[in-house]
Amino acid sequence: MFELLVKISGGESYYPIVVKNNPIENLREEIFEIIGKKNYLVVISEKVFKLYGKILRFPKNNLFILKDGEKEKNFKTYKKILEKALKLRLTRSDCIIAVGGGVCGDIAGFAASTYMRGINLIQIPTTLLACVDSSVGGKTGIDTAFGKNLVGSFYQPSVVLINTNFLKTLDERQFKTGMGEVVKYAFIEKSCKCEEEFNLINFLSLNSDRILARENDVLKELIRMCISLKISVVEKDEKEGGLRKILNFGHTYAHAVENLTKYEKYTHGEAVVKGIEFAFEFAQKRGLIVESYKFIAYDLMRKYNFKNIPNFDIKKIVNVMKLDKKAEADSIVFILPVECAEVQEYRLFDEDVFKYFDK
Ligand code: GLY
Repeated sequence: MFELLVKISGGESYYPIVVKNNPIENLREEIFEIIGKKNYLVVISEKVFKLYGKILRFPKNNLFILKDGEKEKNFKTYKKILEKALKLRLTRSDCIIAVGGGVCGDIAGFAASTYMRGINLIQIPTTLLACVDSSVGGKTGIDTAFGKNLVGSFYQPSVVLINTNFLKTLDERQFKTGMGEVVKYAFIEKSCKCEEEFNLINFLSLNSDRILARENDVLKELIRMCISLKISVVEKDEKEGGLRKILNFGHTYAHAVENLTKYEKYTHGEAVVKGIEFAFEFAQKRGLIVESYKFIAYDLMRKYNFKNIPNFDIKKIVNVMKLDKKAEADSIVFILPVECAEVQEYRLFDEDVFKYFDK
């Protein structure tokens, strides 16, 4: 077991991220040790409930079972969660507990941040993507017809509890989608300005077999590295005024791919990997990196055998990118590699992109 601390608001408050691989049966007691006799609502993903509902033994009355899929992250479900919390008569000192992947953490987190102007939140991520990214750093939100995560808040949990045993039952595709976010950290490592140096590119390259076999020790180490990098960024820029934008490496393109395929064809991580490939291609064409670094990146991604996504029409991609919430006055924000494990933000216009890619 190990614990990492996230210091926010300039160190005024902090919360722990606890990483364990003890039996999942113990989780309920671990939660009760934290919340004591407080009232609570558990928002749990349907998949996780089917697999672990019996051993977690939460009373039915305290459960909100969230159907799986990004399309559930909407106003209607958000309202239902709030109504369930109201029915349970939760007060501000009570607690909402999110048990599931990114969708579950985002919507339950948003409900927690707005219920009575903010109620305690415990994040229990059960997918690799949620462990290394979405459960840490306080982004919460829901999707609208106008785009993903357009309504939301920055709201930090009181504690994040990670148990790597949940990762054992993830299907291959879900595990790989998390690995998409993991490789992102490798290519932004130095820009995260973390005190500890990991050389994640090397780690991922040397340990691909053990990672893909989901060995507990290697997974715990991987999670420790990624979370440490994320904490380093979030502590310096909680509300994404500057540095935090580097966490969106590969994401502007990925969001466009997801949007163009109606969030049905590819998972978020698969789209992120495509976005990272595009960023390397673009950076090399613009002379920001040498070709050999691009090939190192491509080789690393090949080791994880990510789903191959075909190229999209660049004009269509750029048009959707302009709808991204980070876009401004017709310009698009690109996070591009500039050195090994270093990235930089660029604000570019259509022409800056089109001149490097065939339309
Ligand atoms: N997932 C990107 C962020 O938390 O900023």
